[in-house]
Amino acid sequence: MTNASPELRKDGNPFGSHRVLEPKGGLPQPALRLDNCMDYLYDNELLVDVDTLNIDSASFTQIKAEAGGDEEKIKAKILAIVGERGKMQNPVTGSGGMFFGHVAAVGPGLKGKTDLKPGDKIASLVSLSLTPLKIEKIFGLKKGTEQVSVQAKAILFESGIYAKIPTDIPEKLALAILDVAGAPAQTAKLVRPNQVVAIIGAGGKSGLLCAYEASKIAGVAGIVVGLEYSKEACDKVKEFGFCDHVIQANATDALDCHAKLLAATGGKLADVVINCVNIPNTEMASILMCAHEGTVYFFSMATSFTKAALGAEGVGKDIVMLVGNGYTRHHAETTLNILRESPVIRKAYEKLYA
Ligand SMILES: NC(=O)c1ccc[n+]([C@@H]2O[C@H](COP(=O)([O-])OP(=O)(O)OC[C@H]3O[C@@H](n4cnc5c(N)ncnc54)[C@H](OP(=O)(O)O)[C@@H]3O)[C@@H](O)[C@H]2O)c1
Repeated sequence: MTNASPELRKDGNPFGSHRVLEPKGGLPQPALRLDNCMDYLYDNELLVDVDTLNIDSASFTQIKAEAGGDEEKIKAKILAIVGERGKMQNPVTGSGGMFFGHVAAVGPGLKGKTDLKPGDKIASLVSLSLTPLKIEKIFGLKKGTEQVSVQAKAILFESGIYAKIPTDIPEKLALAILDVAGAPAQTAKLVRPNQVVAIIGAGGKSGLLCAYEASKIAGVAGIVVGLEYSKEACDKVKEFGFCDHVIQANATDALDCHAKLLAATGGKLADVVINCVNIPNTEMASILMCAHEGTVYFFSMATSFTKAALGAEGVGKDIVMLVGNGYTRHHAETTLNILRESPVIRKAYEKLYA
């Protein structure tokens, strides 16, 4: 091992089940509690000094609402969750987020399996909801974002994926973008030329990246429709110019969303619907906006499987509904490349995150 401080242990499970305290023998994501002791390191683990947590938007929104927007209460809630669970997994939303940090130690069992060395800057591409985390201190929250500045340590398991932070993109910006890397990369896989695409939450972090990819692929004969709740967010979507139409509607009001989509497109439903909101109860708007045999991609962590499955059945929609797997091949590169391709997106995101 390259860093001598933690005691070395053997026989760590590649998926991290050796760190699961409850229920024993399970995997870390669904676990209730993880062992987050950083005094020892299993020889197939990576130890990381964490500088920033990027809390998942659905989780952050829920914590912020519960705390009445009070920063000290938000910090206390984060500390309480990590203290209890050994990981930053919001018990209400079940979701996590990801971290940015510097590699502190590389277990010797990872030799030949990773090119990382101590000091390398990385962002985790696996969820905080399965990542052993110990927070020493919370310095503060970055205003207008879900980023939390911390002094903390985290463990990445052998199966855990990560991205090295590129030198041409500011660290905090890369972290913010990589958090939602699955969404634009899946959009690029789902959308075909000339299709109608509806993006719910098109002014948010992931929504905007999806709108960019969708408009690139749908092309001039395609129609990209962005839906947002507030006038400010709608104006923002219009300003970016990736959507052919912008609808102001509440995504929890399915009938209104359906009617407004038909009005905007001249009677067409969407071949692909991408749900990027951070609140619950938007399944039916997504389903009603989708054409028969179309696809809904539920990137939102606030999605209910039951509501989506029974809701689609209830309105007789034969559609494909995809669970928002945060990973798809080359998702990190696809998403970082958007910042290289689009100066307007880069400028806007730099203002917020960098
Ligand atoms: N599947 C995965 O692996 C994965 C990974 C990361 C994140 N996520 C999830 O993806 C979702 C989006 O994340 P994000 O970071 O892009 O979030 P975000 O930046 O907060 O964007 C969410 C957008 O939805 C809008 N919105 C909220 N309520 C709405 C409503 N009633 N009607 C219409 N629009 C509404 C928000 O508008 P306002 O700002 O005006 O409220 C915002 O523009 C979240 O649920 C997050 O948890 C999933």
